Amino acid sequence: MESKDQYAVYGNPVKHSKSPQIHAAFAEQTGQQLHYRAHKVELERFAETAGQFFSHGGKGLNITVPFKLDAFEFADQLSGRARRAGAVNTLALQEDGSIYGDNTDGVGLVRDMHDNLGWELSGRRVLVLGAGGAVRGILGPLLKQGPAHVLVANRTVDKAQSLAAHFDSLGNIAGCSYDGLAGGQFDLIINGTSASMSGDLPPLPHHILSTEACAYDMMYGPEPTPFMRWAAGETAWAVSDGLGMLVEQAAESFCIWRGVRPDTKPVIELVRQSLS
Ligand code: ATR
Repeated sequence: MESKDQYAVYGNPVKHSKSPQIHAAFAEQTGQQLHYRAHKVELERFAETAGQFFSHGGKGLNITVPFKLDAFEFADQLSGRARRAGAVNTLALQEDGSIYGDNTDGVGLVRDMHDNLGWELSGRRVLVLGAGGAVRGILGPLLKQGPAHVLVANRTVDKAQSLAAHFDSLGNIAGCSYDGLAGGQFDLIINGTSASMSGDLPPLPHHILSTEACAYDMMYGPEPTPFMRWAAGETAWAVSDGLGMLVEQAAESFCIWRGVRPDTKPVIELVRQSLS
C-alpha cells in the first residue's frame, strides 16, 4: 500500500480529464499528501471497480460521464443535493467504512457565477438550455439562489417539463420548447446541452437577452463555444465558459475529502493556460 492517500476520477472516456491536474494543484497549494489519477472504467463494471478501489484503501472518487447514476446507486448515504439531482459526482470513504455520495456540480456552477464572475443570481430571470444529466445536476443549487424564475428549454419538451416538475418544490420553474422562447426576456442564460460538443447550437430566437444579460456555457475549450459566440452576437453583457465550474466543483469535492478549501483562482488560471 502506498503511503499517500489515494483518489481518482472514474469515467469513460477519461483521457482528457483535467481533474488530476486540478487536484494535484490543490494538494500542492494546501500541503496535503495525496495521489489522484484518472481511470477509465469498463462500461458494465462501475460498482465492481469502485468496490475494489475502496476495499484497497482508496479514500475518494470523482465520477464523470457515464457513471453518475451508477455512483448514486453505489453510495451508502447521500447528501440532499445528490438525492435531488439523482446523480453523484463525488464518493468519499467515511470513518465507519461506509461510502458517502454527494453532487458538487451545482454548487460549482453557482460559485463560479456568483463568487468568481460576480453575477447576481437572486431575482434574475433565468433560462436553462437542455434537460439532460448535466442540467439535472445544477437545478437544485441554482433555485436555492432565489432567481425570479427558471425556464428550462429543451428540444424534447417532455424532458424539460418533467425536470421542472421534479424541482417544483424548490422555486418558480417551468419547462418549454425552443419555439416557446420567442418574446421572452432573460437576465441569465445557461447552456447545459451537449450541442457545443458537435459544434452545434440549440435553435434560439433573437432578442431574448435583457440589456444586462449574462450567458454561461457549462462546456469549455480553447476557443469560445458556438453558444458563447451566439451570446456575444446578441450583445450579452458578460459571457463565460464552464472552466470555472469545473474547478469549483473539484474544490468542493476536495473540501469534502480533506476538510480544507483550496484557493480556486490560481488553479482556474493554470488550467486555462493548459488549454491553449
Ligand atoms: P448530459 O449528461 O451532457 O446532460 P444528456 O443527458 O444526453 O447529456 O443530455 C444532453 C442534452 O443536450 C439534452 O437536453 C439534449 O436534448 P434532447 O433531450 O432533446 O436530446 C441536448 N442536446 C444535445 N444535442 C443538441 C443539439 N444539437 N441541439 C439542441 N439540444 C441538444
